Amino acid sequence: MKTRLFSCVAILGLFLAWLPEVFSADDAATVNRLVIHADRGKDTISRFIYGHFSEHLGRCVYEGYWVGEDSPIPNTRGIRNDVVAALKRVKVPVLRWPGGCFADEYHWRDGIGPRTQRPTMINTHWGGVTENNHFGTHEFLDLCDQIGCEPYICGNVGSGTVREMQEWVEYITFDGKSPMADLRRQNGRDQPWHLKYFGVGNENWGCGGNMTPEFYADQFRRYATYVRNFGGNRIFKIACGPNGGDYRWTEVLMKNVGRQMAGLALHYYCGSGRTSRSATQFEEVDWFHLLRNALRMDELITKHVEIMDKYDERRRVALIVDEWGAWHQVEPGTNPGFLYQQNTLRDALVAAVTLNIFNQHCDRVHMANIAQTVNVLQALVLTDKEKMIVTPTYHVFELYTPHHDATLLPTELACADYKFGDERIPAVSVSASRDKSGTMHVSFCNLNPNDAMPIAAEVRGAKLRSATGRVLTAPDMRAHNTFDQPDRVRPERFDNVRVTDAGFEVTLPPKSVTVISLE
Ligand code: AHR
Repeated sequence: MKTRLFSCVAILGLFLAWLPEVFSADDAATVNRLVIHADRGKDTISRFIYGHFSEHLGRCVYEGYWVGEDSPIPNTRGIRNDVVAALKRVKVPVLRWPGGCFADEYHWRDGIGPRTQRPTMINTHWGGVTENNHFGTHEFLDLCDQIGCEPYICGNVGSGTVREMQEWVEYITFDGKSPMADLRRQNGRDQPWHLKYFGVGNENWGCGGNMTPEFYADQFRRYATYVRNFGGNRIFKIACGPNGGDYRWTEVLMKNVGRQMAGLALHYYCGSGRTSRSATQFEEVDWFHLLRNALRMDELITKHVEIMDKYDERRRVALIVDEWGAWHQVEPGTNPGFLYQQNTLRDALVAAVTLNIFNQHCDRVHMANIAQTVNVLQALVLTDKEKMIVTPTYHVFELYTPHHDATLLPTELACADYKFGDERIPAVSVSASRDKSGTMHVSFCNLNPNDAMPIAAEVRGAKLRSATGRVLTAPDMRAHNTFDQPDRVRPERFDNVRVTDAGFEVTLPPKSVTVISLE
């Protein structure tokens, strides 16, 4: 009798082990299983994966950061205090500037010296507005100092000269006596700045000069030769990489440039909904479509890395994803060239699944920069004159700060699909890490807007004492923060988690981002 009972249990066990293979979204989701290998972590999740991008575009730089010293909006040397404080809270590690497409039209010498004497230019890419160059090199590097982040400057290959690029780096980083260092001193800055990250052009396959990969590879070699390391300053040179799935671009760059670049920059925007491109007025079909497109980041990284590995087995060239995010229609009544969009719980999910993908690929992805920090595209911060709010995407960056420079813990997930019509995607996205103090953090997304996802997690190689959590969700998938209701979407304490003998059990609410901390 005992033997028969044992066999039944064994057969049931085998059946359950096999279930995830055949599991369909219509089934009850009781077999979502996660294994976390707490004893097998070896790669570090670079904090630079949590980087940002800010361009001279719409109200990102002007109004978003720069209000000028005489503004009634509280500021430090012209840079608004509220925005800096918000960005410090999410520990922004790096900020890319001045573009974007703007970078290949920007002439840095127009942005130094007394502001009233700086020449103006037309921002042809973004609304045809007049750029007064009041925010230039000194102001950007001051902003980075105030935030406490590394600067990442993108140089002009499309319409600039080799000399111009060479002199910009000399101006910023040379300590001795030289024409550019003297000019910098004349403009009030005695000491050179530290500058590590430098991009040699932006989207040179498009707005940065419409080049072929062969032509750009040669241009990169030429321009990069003159991007010098002065004194102790070591520049990490980043080449323009592919547009989404343009694998030929990666192949040519790896073959023709190889290790002359330290990083290759992929750009991928996951777009918007299928039937509506509005940031806030959309249906489940649009929710599904956007998240499915966001998940494509995994395939893109995998395939580009495969090509990179062919030429760089030792993985010395990093993949940098220096523009990513959702791209919706602009908010009604705003300048179409300013790319101002609202940001809902759906965008929070886009950010969270994408960051999980970057974490999982941290052996090759050294940096990523969401587009764009303030008032443009998938922004973390929105401003309206003296008012400032943070978006659901901001809260994801805050929730994920424990992953910064933590050790990635390998995970295996068998989960139900989220099915919509004839299509399906995995309902759950996850990544796990161990921070320097030994605490483990697991970030979960439940992409299914209708069903909760129970997960049984086994943590191998560690015994747990406690599990605590925070969650970001809302009753409506379109929920977002406004200047009148700034806290409609914000993280809450999460209690639906309990420690078990094997690890922990958690039930993820529908359409949610949950971060669990394990001691
Ligand atoms: O982020 C907006 C624009 O998107 C950038 O200027 C450009 O690089 C990309 O096409």
